[in-house]
Amino acid sequence: MAYSSLADFDHPSSEVSQVSEVEQPFATNIAATDEFLQIREVVLSALAGRSMGPLGSEDLRDRLPRSQVDLRSDTGLMLRVESLISELLKKLSLANCKALQFPVNVRVMSHKTPNQRVVAKGAYSTELLHCDAWSGAPSDSRNHLIYLYTEPSCPYLEMYETLDESDPLRGYVGNYTELSDQLYERRRVAIPCEAGILAVWPTYSPHRTVVPAPSTSRAEGSPLRISIDFRTRESTPYEEDRNSAMDTFSDSKMNSLGVYWTFPSVSASMKDKIELEIKSARESGSVAEARRREYIRKYYPDAAVSGL
Ligand SMILES: [Fe+2]
Repeated sequence: MAYSSLADFDHPSSEVSQVSEVEQPFATNIAATDEFLQIREVVLSALAGRSMGPLGSEDLRDRLPRSQVDLRSDTGLMLRVESLISELLKKLSLANCKALQFPVNVRVMSHKTPNQRVVAKGAYSTELLHCDAWSGAPSDSRNHLIYLYTEPSCPYLEMYETLDESDPLRGYVGNYTELSDQLYERRRVAIPCEAGILAVWPTYSPHRTVVPAPSTSRAEGSPLRISIDFRTRESTPYEEDRNSAMDTFSDSKMNSLGVYWTFPSVSASMKDKIELEIKSARESGSVAEARRREYIRKYYPDAAVSGL
């Protein structure tokens, strides 16, 4: 297999580092971990709108939504998932980071009708091969995707080896249509598409979502995939990044630097999380604190109203 089991996971990139300076993408099977089982249960339950019965049962397929559902406003769920992810990263020796995205992205993906697909294919479509740095992901960030539920022929992640330090494509910032074709020259990295697989890749690893052609023989509908993904950073949320100016900290809830919160931070409530984060920002200076307060005012107004 191209991926390691949890048992031989201790040094996931040690073999690769002998042939290349840059960190390479990899996949590992976490299906047997308590953290994965709990993340799957709470996320799928939330998507199904009720507590799950035995997972893997036939009616699971009928209870899950087949298009995107936004769970980000369910802060209780998002805090629970954050806590489980923190434990998982520690268990896998991947907790060598100083910031963690909050909340995670929950993606419900299936085939769409041809007309919808045309509309969805924009200049930043993830079906085009790209590096996340091209759309402003911090250069010190690492992305993680966990497959929670998959069906045969569902949309999947296709991954390629990380660009070398000297690769001119590293410096590009812009949409995915311009240089996408040049990325196919790299070697593929196998990422199995099955529930319980965790994929980890640096921000300069080319990748895309592949949506297999819908099969006309599947009367029951298009194949479904549910996954979560989240980034970590090697720097604190308040350090400058050459790709992402700090003055855009609050431009977007999910696509600006404000989405990275100090790691580790396991909080029982959003109020606790915000209080801890403001304290952490204050330690980085008054500008950092002002930026975090602005981000919270914009995207967590309830907490801002309570005087935080
Ligand atoms: Fe991406």
